[in-house]
Formats: sequence, structure tokens, C-alpha cells
Amino acid sequence: MKEYSLSVKVPHHASYVVRNIPNVTVEQRERALKATHYNEFASPAGMLTIDMLSDSGTTAMTDVQWAAMFLGDESYGRNKGYYVLLDTFRDIFERGGEKNWKKIIDLVRTDCTDVDKMMDEMYLCEYEGGLFNGGAAQMERPNAFIIQQGRAAESILFEIVKKIMVERHPAKSFVIPSNGHFDTTEGNIKQMGSIPRNLFNKELLFEVPEGGKYEKNPFKGDMDVRKLVELIEAVGSENVPLIYTTITNNTVCGQAVSMKSIRETAEIAHKYDIPFRSCIHKRLSKVWK
Ligand SMILES: Cc1ncc(COP(=O)(O)O)c(C=O)c1O
Repeated sequence: MKEYSLSVKVPHHASYVVRNIPNVTVEQRERALKATHYNEFASPAGMLTIDMLSDSGTTAMTDVQWAAMFLGDESYGRNKGYYVLLDTFRDIFERGGEKNWKKIIDLVRTDCTDVDKMMDEMYLCEYEGGLFNGGAAQMERPNAFIIQQGRAAESILFEIVKKIMVERHPAKSFVIPSNGHFDTTEGNIKQMGSIPRNLFNKELLFEVPEGGKYEKNPFKGDMDVRKLVELIEAVGSENVPLIYTTITNNTVCGQAVSMKSIRETAEIAHKYDIPFRSCIHKRLSKVWK
């Protein structure tokens, strides 16, 4: 007997939640487009079949991720999630690979009721020198701030950058390079009187091969590091207050950014003594909520 191979992969997950998409006619859509002056940001998302504009919150979450949402706590002060987040910042910015965050998150996940343990291992643990948040010392030591919205965070960041730069060099405008500025980033940079520069990777425009598959991921979201060096040399490093990398490269359809590109950009930033900021796109941050 002839055996047929299965041409589809066996699924490794099951989906339980369904969101209905409304049935909208062409006439209804045309009416809505006209009424909102053909502005895609003003057009009602609830009338769309496929939303090509939004990227945030478009990925599915696993049952475990959804379950973790129940551990969320809206307290204004030091809620448990805050300690988990702060510890994650410490892992990323201080410990550099010495992963410890699971220890703290597990105290929350297992609903630890041993108050002494919680105080010693989470609420009151002192850290030498690094990110610290609590009491008077937080004004003097490195700190982390939680801001509820990307564009608001950018506005605060660039207001601070502007203050520092204007104090040092009044009446000058500065250049802020990126692998691709998100539109709100670009708006906030212009608002502070600086010039945003997009150093897109030339591979971005490579044609997609026949069949739609590359042999190797070209990481089209990478920064063009050659252009970055040329730009710094041309305008002078004192006129570049910071270098900005967005991961994924949202403004060019969320293209992936390689670790190699991030490392090379960091090396250049260190060489010219320019602060380097990596902005991780919200879609990734959802996993940590
Ligand atoms: C780099 C960057 N900045 C800002 C935003 C805007 O975020 P929000 O809608 O929270 O203001 C996004 C959103 O995708 C982003 O990727």
C-alpha cells in the first residue's frame, strides 16, 4: 500500500480564544475613510479585516503568559512586579549574563508567604553600587524608571538630553543617528531641535528571492555601521549626543536586528564616547509583563 507523507507540520499548540472580525462592506469602508479624511491613524480599527498599521499586541500569548497576568498588581508603590522588573534591569545592565531573575520571579509565582524570606530575598535586599530604588539614596545612584508609554518615555529622554546639551553648547543643533527612528522618536528629536538620521542597512532593499525565502536571514533591520562612522567623523562626535538602535526595526516593517550589529554599534559608541541606547520594541516586552 502506498504511504503518503503529511505535507503539513503537526501542530505543537492548541488555540482556545477567538476574536470575531466584523463583516464590513466596501461602501462602509469608503464612508469611514472619507469621514476620517483618509488618515489611517484616525480610521476605526474595529472595521478592519487585516490591520497593516498596528504591530503592538498583535501576537498571541500562551496560557502560561496569560496566567502570569493575574500576578499583576496595580499598587502605586512597590508592587511585586516592580521588584521582578528591577531585578531584570540588574541582570541586563549590571550582572551581564549572570541570570538571577528567575529566583525572584519564582517567589512571586509560587506565592511565597514566608515574609522573612521575601524581605531578605526580594523586598529589602541591598545591592552594592548598582541600580537602586528606594529611600534618599535613589537620587544619587543609577536608577530605572517605568514609563507607561513609548512616546512619553521618548519625550522625557529627549527633554533631558536637550537640557544637558544646551547647557554645554547653547544654540547648537545635534544629530541623533539610528538604524531607523520610529515616527514618534523622530518627532521627539525634532521637537528638541535636533536632527534625526536614519542609517538604514543597504540590504534592506534586497529583493526577496523567488519563493519568498532567503537562504540566510539578512537582518535587514541592522544599522549601517560604515555610515555611522562616516557621520560621526563628518559632524564631530561632540555633536552626536547619543546613538539609538530600535529592536526590531519598527519603522521598516519590524525587520530583525542582529546581535552583531548591536555589538558593532556599541563598539563605535564606546570608541567615540557617545551614549548608546537600545530601545526594545514593546512586542518583545509583552513577554515580561
Ligand atoms: C521605538 C518606539 N518608540 C515609540 C513607540 C510608541 O509607543 P507608544 O504607542 O507606547 O507611545 C513605539 C511603538 O511601537 C516604538 O517602537
